[in-house]
Amino acid sequence: MPGNRNKNEDPIAVFDSGVGGISVLRALLEEMPNENYRYYGDSANAPYGTKSLEQVRSLTVSHVDRLIAEGAKAVVVACNTATSAAVRFLRQKYPAVPVIGIEPALKPAALFKKHPNVVVMATPMTIREEKFHNLMERYMGTAHIIPLPCPGLMEYIEHGDIHGEELEQFLARLFEPFEKQKLDAVVLGCTHYPFVSRELTHVLGEDVTLFEGGPGTARETKRRIAAAGLLRSGTEKGTILFENSSQPKEKEKLCRKLLGII
Ligand code: DGL
Repeated sequence: MPGNRNKNEDPIAVFDSGVGGISVLRALLEEMPNENYRYYGDSANAPYGTKSLEQVRSLTVSHVDRLIAEGAKAVVVACNTATSAAVRFLRQKYPAVPVIGIEPALKPAALFKKHPNVVVMATPMTIREEKFHNLMERYMGTAHIIPLPCPGLMEYIEHGDIHGEELEQFLARLFEPFEKQKLDAVVLGCTHYPFVSRELTHVLGEDVTLFEGGPGTARETKRRIAAAGLLRSGTEKGTILFENSSQPKEKEKLCRKLLGII
């Protein structure tokens, strides 16, 4: 009976422009393995990071509208770009639904040692938007922060090309302007980028510490869901549904692979 439905059993929707949000889902599963998840990637419209603010907002809002209408108990916008474009608007539109966004993990990177040199890799849109400017201002006195827009990088991950010579050359070119010995930290400010961590470390060396936003977002999601009284009870493992706006089977398979479950 609809009236007796237990909302806590409903899934947490995890949304991204493509397969990158799987890095956030990975952290969510570690934090809350017994929740049910519905992962939706909009690969048909990716990349978001080189689109206009209006385009990204309208795509994000229309997908989140549907996910909430179809019963998501909470929404994680597992995309830095979509978060900067739409999260404030979504929170106003859905005051009763926990909507959690992600932002570049600049705070832990800026504080991990005394006045570090920190490069923030992100999409052109994330770096252009007010949300990032505010974040950067907050840590300007604590760290030397260098924003690095990376158009073209998410496409490698989106195609499943997370290793190899071509990718390494792409990354090496991105970091060409920097003296690598002087870098202390790199923030992976796009949820696709953690999947190329190994290649990045290869290019930058072991002394450069990488920071990603997934774990912090997962902790925040747990706090918000607990505060709303929506945590799923018991210890039974939850389910994961993978969906994608483009070639469902291929992207779904890639998502499972990135999550390490095939
Ligand atoms: N995964 C998205 C992010 O975290 C961006 C990728 C894209 O450009 O669509 O910013």
